[in-house]
Amino acid sequence: MFTVMQEISSNARHEAIVVGLFEKEPLFSGIVAKWNEQLNGQLTELANEGDLLPKKKHITKVHTLGQMKMKRLYFVGLGKEEELTFEQLREAFGKLFQTIKGATWSEVAVMLDTFTTERIDASDAAHALSEAFLLATYEFVGYKQKRTESKKIEQFTVYTTADEKEVEASLFVGSVYGRATNAARTLVNTPSNLLSAAALANYAVELAKKYGFEYKIVEKEEMEKLGMGALLAVNQGSVEPPKLIVVKYQGKETWEDVIGLVGKGVTFDTGGYSIKPKDGIVGMKTDMAGAAAVLGAMEIIGELRPEQNVLAVIPATDNMISGRAFKPDDVITSMSGKTIEVTNTDAEGRLILADAMTYAKQQGAKYLIDVATLTGGVIIALGVHTTGAMTNDEALFEQLLEASAETGEFMWRLPITEKDKERVRNSPIADLNNSPGREGHAIMGAAFLAEFAEDTPWVHLDIAGTSVTTKPSDLGPAGATGVMVRTLATFVERFEK
Ligand code: BES
Ligand code: ZN
Ligand code: ZN
Repeated sequence: MFTVMQEISSNARHEAIVVGLFEKEPLFSGIVAKWNEQLNGQLTELANEGDLLPKKKHITKVHTLGQMKMKRLYFVGLGKEEELTFEQLREAFGKLFQTIKGATWSEVAVMLDTFTTERIDASDAAHALSEAFLLATYEFVGYKQKRTESKKIEQFTVYTTADEKEVEASLFVGSVYGRATNAARTLVNTPSNLLSAAALANYAVELAKKYGFEYKIVEKEEMEKLGMGALLAVNQGSVEPPKLIVVKYQGKETWEDVIGLVGKGVTFDTGGYSIKPKDGIVGMKTDMAGAAAVLGAMEIIGELRPEQNVLAVIPATDNMISGRAFKPDDVITSMSGKTIEVTNTDAEGRLILADAMTYAKQQGAKYLIDVATLTGGVIIALGVHTTGAMTNDEALFEQLLEASAETGEFMWRLPITEKDKERVRNSPIADLNNSPGREGHAIMGAAFLAEFAEDTPWVHLDIAGTSVTTKPSDLGPAGATGVMVRTLATFVERFEK
């Protein structure tokens, strides 16, 4: 898909050529200045007339109408060179590819040097390019009898004066990141009748086989033996058996400093007997976005094989109603031994995560990151562009925050105070209470999980607001975003204990 070349020859032909344009004097330099001459200064004329702007994320298409060997020029406005961030560059590329989408031709060349700055080198720009291409052109095919998928660019020629091998490697890394995020998006977009816990487990097994990971699916019988009362309670009303998906990646000689990634895998959340209202229930097929994020990250880890140890644990089930379902007022015993009074069956995510976290620790996880569509409360608190983060360990959180700044998947920390901890312990008949009232839902979810992290460094990411979007963005359509795939993988790649 990508061919990297040092220099563009004077008789090179391309369907389209892509050039970055910074707000600076002169607007055109190097080879672009030459093309401007070939076009009798028409580019300058367009710029002077305001048709060709270097404004950030402004895309301009210029047809060369036989005056050049390149049929079309695409100018990508980048704003002021010193102000451009990596995230903005990725978005600018995203916008470019959305503009090109639907074209009948499928080949472009990119002048990579025109996208680099003091802070963004050729490798960064190459990563942004390939990642943005995959993210921006993602489509969920769906189930219409007449399925249409738009034609995509198949051949990229990337011209760079930087080291070709390095640029090639970065193009590969960017495309791995993009592809894995899209795989997570597809899992999240898939309806729950077509993605049961068993189907999710099968997906994970295929992934594990592909990358040579060790894996294990803990079945219901074994859960009973292990005493996973919390996960089993949530599954009780379902005809679909629960699965605990466990995937192990060992990138170090010994199984030490293990990073546990735990993803909420509720394939559909009715709320149980604390049933959701008819408007709130629609969309609950996406309640496994945490699981999808973890599997997406594992795909990147499988491709790039960092020198880290990672244990992915995904509790998977739906949350249904039947004569056998668990009920408000029930008291259940979790794998950790802690008893839980169920005051709300719709606070099911923290229950299944509790057992998954205990299991991860037993399997050697020394650090825990859980990702979950846990609360509507986080949407009220932080909106739909910022993931809620809660932690018991500053240093671990800082590393995750750095990764998120790099991927542009923003997060913001909410506190867990001693008073919050007291509230989840406030049950007259059990150790814990799974839903202690209306105030601070997002924090209550985290305070509950903190009881199971205990003294293991842990970060909880509440992606209820960020995992799906109703509005298309520069980096993808409406629907699942695949949020946290890239952040988790970046975090793992860079992790230092
Ligand atoms: N899956 C939901 C959270 C959710 C809400 C995700 C909206 C995506 C969009 C979760 O299981 C839930 O129902 N949480 C309750 C918690 C409450 C009962 C303590 C909530 O947020 O209302
Ligand atoms: Zn729920
Ligand atoms: Zn849920």
